[in-house]
Amino acid sequence: MRLPTPTPGDIEWFVHDRFGMFIHWGLYSLAARHEWVKYNETIPDDVYQKYFEQFNPDLYDPQAWARACRKAGMKYVVLTTKHHEGFCLWDSKLTDYKITNTPYGKDALRPYVDAFRAEGLKIGFYHSLIDWHHPDFPIDGQHPLRDHPDALKMNETRNMARYADYLHGQVRELLTEFGKIDVLWFDFSYPDFVHRGLPGKGRNEWQSEKLLKMARELQPGIIVNNRLNLPMGNADFYTPEQYQPRAWVQVDGQPVFWEACQTFSGSWGYYRDEDTWKSPEQLVQMLINTVSCGGNLIMNVGPTARGTVDARAEQALSVYGEWLRLHGRSIYGCAPSEFQPPQDCRYTQSGNRLYLHLFNWPFKFVYLDGLANKIAYAQLLHDGSQVFVKSALRDYNYEAVAQFIPSDTAVLELPVRKPDVVVPVVEIILK
Ligand code: GLC
Repeated sequence: MRLPTPTPGDIEWFVHDRFGMFIHWGLYSLAARHEWVKYNETIPDDVYQKYFEQFNPDLYDPQAWARACRKAGMKYVVLTTKHHEGFCLWDSKLTDYKITNTPYGKDALRPYVDAFRAEGLKIGFYHSLIDWHHPDFPIDGQHPLRDHPDALKMNETRNMARYADYLHGQVRELLTEFGKIDVLWFDFSYPDFVHRGLPGKGRNEWQSEKLLKMARELQPGIIVNNRLNLPMGNADFYTPEQYQPRAWVQVDGQPVFWEACQTFSGSWGYYRDEDTWKSPEQLVQMLINTVSCGGNLIMNVGPTARGTVDARAEQALSVYGEWLRLHGRSIYGCAPSEFQPPQDCRYTQSGNRLYLHLFNWPFKFVYLDGLANKIAYAQLLHDGSQVFVKSALRDYNYEAVAQFIPSDTAVLELPVRKPDVVVPVVEIILK
């Protein structure tokens, strides 16, 4: 198996831990209809201002968030310090558009860092490169004012270099005032996206090279995602979003470290009326599938305007928590296997332990190609109960069965009823 080449940051803990929590929280949580609401509904600043004036998450309890994260089996967290709307969750010296100037009146970031750190979790910051509020950010196709008749003219007074200074200055604050930060998650670049004569933005506009250099200087070991629009070799990990890769993610023909970022329902910010919540099977299968393809999974929670995790998200977190309590061994520290899994199954592997994840429960037998005489022992992972291993031709010496089973195939004998877990796993100890 070809493995990714090492990256500048400390990627080992990340690859080992496999599963994290994304948190999207900002003024859009009040609108409760997508974090892109300002863009989707082309809401001007003065109208959007009402969310700023109302922002008062009286039930914000970062310890409760951190506990929920740990109990879900997630090992790291990434919170939106600022999303595209431009609102800052910390007391930045570089803007007034920040949480301390809302009715809430307090910084939310330091308590977040402290609470998650105290639960033993690694800490990440998501930071939006895009800014729909900053007066120097040139209007482009990703901006709420993209179709304003005077957009081009308005850009005459907007100064990209000044905005880049602001961006760099804020990242400096984030990486110097909150102790050790493990993950930096920038979002996003679109250099070739031109809309009505408004150019897109990428590495030149963000001054990405300088920004990344500063980040690595301020926080040695920090791992940074791939959305700065820099060439291969700069990012520590890649970020497929809203689809599930079917194989190890490659860039320029090279395997890379990667993290799929996904939502419990369709939106990142809290969306009251959205109804595409994933089933327990989908949630667990996405995690397994990701690890079986060499990736990490970060699942998003969009807390409400009052600072709570809504019941549907809590439910989804508990699905992961319950499954991982019994099956964590098949995820943490695991990687893809060289063996080809049977139909409707996935393999993960750690050393001589091979994990067979059964997405569909077959009747009585499951056939493992290439594993005849290679299995020392097998058990269901959730209860440690023995699973009999048959070496096909020896144990089934009646023709009708034998003719379907190649000689290098091992056969596991399963109970007829599917165990009462979302996805059952057989732990196979290889000789
Ligand atoms: C997207 C969206 C965004 C979300 C992010 C997470 O690029 O702009 O709203 O924060 O993906 O991956």
